[in-house]
Amino acid sequence: MTNFTITLANQGGAAFDVDQRKPLLQSLREQGVDLPYGCKYGGCISCAAKMISGKVDQKAQRALNNRQINNGYIILCVARPMSDCTLEVGVESHDKLYRNPFLDPLAPHELKADIAIPLEAKK
Ligand code: FES
Repeated sequence: MTNFTITLANQGGAAFDVDQRKPLLQSLREQGVDLPYGCKYGGCISCAAKMISGKVDQKAQRALNNRQINNGYIILCVARPMSDCTLEVGVESHDKLYRNPFLDPLAPHELKADIAIPLEAKK
């Protein structure tokens, strides 16, 4: 059994010893950390946290797009640690999770080239 240390940067640097076989949400909640969550299977994004450093295995997640992953987000309910990690957790960490389309419009390569048009509109 391998354990890693998870440090919560936005909770006073509190550190927790976690089992690499368990999802981080489960390990942290078992140790009294109050975290938001919903589905617990990687689909709803409620439990997203920002990884400041470290490495996790989150192959089972279905909620994040590439932009969110590139901004450091992980899905705690399915992510298992692969090293010591430093995280920001809770809704305070969600500042870059959602995009405001008025402040940050999609780039041309992110637009769908073939958006369906209702038949009536084609006449
Ligand atoms: S609780 Fe739904 S994605 Fe983690």
